[in-house]
Amino acid sequence: MTTAQTPELDVQPTPLALLLLGREADPKSERGVECPGDLPSPSDPDLVERARAAKEKLGDKVFVLGHHYQRDEVIQFADVTGDSFKLARDAAARPEAEYIVFCGVHFMAESADILTSADQKVVLPDLAAGCSMADMATAEQVAECWDVLTEAGVAEQVVPVSYMNSSADIKAFTGKHGGTICTSSNAKRALDWAFEQGEPSTTKVLFLPDQHLGRNTAVRDMGMSLDDCVVYNPHKPNGGLTAEQLRAARMILWRGHCSVHGRFSLDSVNDVRARIPGVNVLVHPECKHEVVAAADYVGSTEYIIKALEAAPAGSKWAIGTELNLVRRLANRFAPEGKEIVFLDKTVCFCSTMNRIDLPHLVWALESLAEGNLVNRIEVDQETEAFAKLALERMLALP
Ligand code: 13P
Ligand code: SF4
Repeated sequence: MTTAQTPELDVQPTPLALLLLGREADPKSERGVECPGDLPSPSDPDLVERARAAKEKLGDKVFVLGHHYQRDEVIQFADVTGDSFKLARDAAARPEAEYIVFCGVHFMAESADILTSADQKVVLPDLAAGCSMADMATAEQVAECWDVLTEAGVAEQVVPVSYMNSSADIKAFTGKHGGTICTSSNAKRALDWAFEQGEPSTTKVLFLPDQHLGRNTAVRDMGMSLDDCVVYNPHKPNGGLTAEQLRAARMILWRGHCSVHGRFSLDSVNDVRARIPGVNVLVHPECKHEVVAAADYVGSTEYIIKALEAAPAGSKWAIGTELNLVRRLANRFAPEGKEIVFLDKTVCFCSTMNRIDLPHLVWALESLAEGNLVNRIEVDQETEAFAKLALERMLALP
């Protein structure tokens, strides 16, 4: 009797899967590349002391920024914490610091480099800390989209508004074409500004790369209808849209999303309301429109923190944003009698934010303290000039 041979499976590990496992590199991606050098072991009991000593040795030469989604082990060493808008402003306001160590993701470090002086060096402790949403809009795809808009005869009416969560190339495209950057804290103000740049009834916005923030702001905060929005899919010819559809739209939304906030669903909202009577549902505007529509409150990470600070004792909250922040807030407000839970039932960290851990921070700080500049994030001059224009338009918004 012969036995059938099991065919050899031709399964190749994808670069993304390997990157998420902490191995391999993808230099073309926002998720970046592997770090050079020897990292301290995560089990080294002296890591906290080593980080403290290196930071003390560097003194005022170093300024450590920490995004709200960073791990506790890293956040404890941040000189300031904040959302991406606050951190961009904080970086710009520290001209005396020679090194800005950015505990966040790649696009944030690029923005800090653009907004700081040429002799300040921005360091990202792990170069693989990118953002999957930022990767969803490449410079080539966006240039092609502009050709499609030109072909359809609408490009002259279009003002680009790009979310902070985008590469420096996309920010430069935005600056070059008369647009502005926005964050989740100021998206409405940015859209108001954009519609004032031309005849309000004919002006259109190309919103990059997060379709959800664009749609939620347009519909929830600006009174537009879902029919005013179309979605441009960079993987389809002409974005999957006809010239007619482009001409009729007010908001042209790029087909990008956050893989973390995209996981929350209407079911998560209904489920938590059934489990915790009287719960307030508070979500980030990167969540899908149906989730935002079903929530009680919607806002950026800074908004979420302020809402919980102002909440009365005994109140109950389900939060739809990244888990490091939600856990920290739950611990912080528990002694005040505020019950805070994560909106989803499954664990949901931002895997790339989590790449910045204590061993990487210790390695970066110790290298700087020994005079070795590592993992510098530097945007080239031409990109920087146009990207800065777009970022400064954002910082000047009323
Ligand atoms: P904010 O920091 O603007 O709230 O954005 C959240 C986020 O996803 C950052 O990557
Ligand atoms: Fe990017 Fe989402 Fe992670 Fe923010 S939370 S860095 S948008 S993947």
